[in-house]
Amino acid sequence: MSYRSHNCGELRLSDAGKTVKLSGWVQIGRDFGGLTFIDLRDRYGITQLVFNMEDDAALCEQARKLGREFVVSVEGLVRERTSKNPNRATGDIEIEAKSLDILNPAKTPPFTIEDNSDGGDDLRMRYRYLDLRRSPVQHNIIFRSRLALETRKFLSDKNFLEIETPFLIKSTPEGARDFVVPSRMNPGQFYALPQSPQTFKQILMVAGYDRYFQIVRCFRDEDLRADRQPEFTQIDCEMAFVTREDVLNTFEGLTKHLFRSMLGLELSNFPRMSYDDALRLYGSDKPDLRFDMQFCELNDLAQGKGFSVFDDAELVVGICAKGIAESYTNKDLNDLTDWVKRPQIGAKGLVYAKFNTDGSIKTTVGKFFSDDQIREWGQKMGAQTGDILFILSGEKEKTRKQLGELRLELGRRLGLMKPGDFKPLWVLDFPLLEWDEDSQRFFAMHHPFTSPKTEDLARMMTDDFETLKSLRADAYDLVLNGSEIGGGSIRIHDRELQSKNFKLLGFTPEQAEAQFGFLLGAFEFGAPPHGGIAFGFDRLCAVMNGQSSIRDFIAFPKNNQGRDMMIDAPSPVADEQLDELCLRVELEE
Ligand code: AMO
Repeated sequence: MSYRSHNCGELRLSDAGKTVKLSGWVQIGRDFGGLTFIDLRDRYGITQLVFNMEDDAALCEQARKLGREFVVSVEGLVRERTSKNPNRATGDIEIEAKSLDILNPAKTPPFTIEDNSDGGDDLRMRYRYLDLRRSPVQHNIIFRSRLALETRKFLSDKNFLEIETPFLIKSTPEGARDFVVPSRMNPGQFYALPQSPQTFKQILMVAGYDRYFQIVRCFRDEDLRADRQPEFTQIDCEMAFVTREDVLNTFEGLTKHLFRSMLGLELSNFPRMSYDDALRLYGSDKPDLRFDMQFCELNDLAQGKGFSVFDDAELVVGICAKGIAESYTNKDLNDLTDWVKRPQIGAKGLVYAKFNTDGSIKTTVGKFFSDDQIREWGQKMGAQTGDILFILSGEKEKTRKQLGELRLELGRRLGLMKPGDFKPLWVLDFPLLEWDEDSQRFFAMHHPFTSPKTEDLARMMTDDFETLKSLRADAYDLVLNGSEIGGGSIRIHDRELQSKNFKLLGFTPEQAEAQFGFLLGAFEFGAPPHGGIAFGFDRLCAVMNGQSSIRDFIAFPKNNQGRDMMIDAPSPVADEQLDELCLRVELEE
């Protein structure tokens, strides 16, 4: 090889005495007068080079002038180091340089290319190619590549076919806005970029490709958060002739395989919880099961004792934080009270009861409740000496959500979410329909192709609002450490039922035909029962690495304004281009 005989991560003591050639980037240089040390980096690791003034003064001078990120090629002799670096795989050796080629000089980078860089987010996004050189980001990108390979291996072994579906499609309603693309050849008409390949994968089932998957880019024009990007990747899957049980087992199998092959972890069977229980016990449809603190409802014990805040509430509900009564100070309690009162959480106040280790009780509601009454709450909530109860009250849905947030915050503050701990959960039986007050109509909670549970089929043929609200879908989410990693459902495969569902969602028969005629039509040509799921691939990468932001698992992500800072997109286009697409708006005189 003309540039390298080895990479910068592979030489060991057993290679001592070999003449080698390495190429890479200058991480850092250290000049000690007679000796100059250079750390040479590539994606495999870092190797130390030594230039000795006494051996070759000209070469040493050349090495002294190397700046950070210069690309160089070095030939030299591997030798044992006198002071070894146990933190580095190549730390037992160094290269006694014999020749040096500067392949390309580099400007001083705008931030340090180290594990903890001094660059801010925007700067690192603008110079993404420099950020991608940093080893934590590199680790993530390599992890992602291996995770995709393991996914393909597992699914292919199970007879799944990877089939590509188009990016220029007609809009599929999944709850977010579409990105649209104008068609030059069809003036005034637009494609939409897929929010997911949902309808195509169903069509593939009708076509007889009974096990499909695709690691596929999806596009959603929605507000961005740490776990949301406008373009993201799904492991999208569909199977024919399956029940919910078959789908759950297959994808529990995939998840276990990925944890085993990537992290060497054996996950035990995934627990299952209904959507209703998840909300009742954790105030969230994606409970983090790394710690306990289940909700306990206290209406029976806490109401009717003259404390109007509780008496007037639809729900009085609390959680028990174990063993913190001693360590949790008044200041901590006040901080937490302020925290729940922030507008983002919106609670009016926080009631607590501290079961001190000396047997006494300290509570914010001592005026209204005797110690014995508070002990009764404690008993119901499984509290012991040393625990603190936190209680919220108010309108049911809101209060559950607030307490769910408080539970997570306590989990964070008390360090209960341990790195390396993974707690998966299937959440089942979501509502089929969700009422939207603003538009006064139902929306599909998952998507319009989701089947109601078989036992709810008959109840679907009604116009009664409460009945419709109570319908359950054969839909499921995979939750991992409180993050929604995947979602799917058993689908409707009957034309009549699909038409009925569209009607409930406010489509006229004409609108349904115009938007989904192809699918309704396909259902008339032998559609098998089918169902599937899609995993958020970026989220899976992040959660498996104990991180909450997906950005650093995507080589070229967008920032929170949906901008690619490196290429500076989106950007205006030339008038001629707009004209060609019939998009120029002529301003009237
Ligand atoms: P859903 O909309 O639930 O289902 O999406 C599946 C999974 O994709 C991930 N996800 C995202 N990840 C990053 N950024 C985003 N903006 C984003 N939006 C979603 C989540 C989510 O669980 N077609 C159906 C699947 C099916 O029914 O088979 C669908 O797309 O992890």
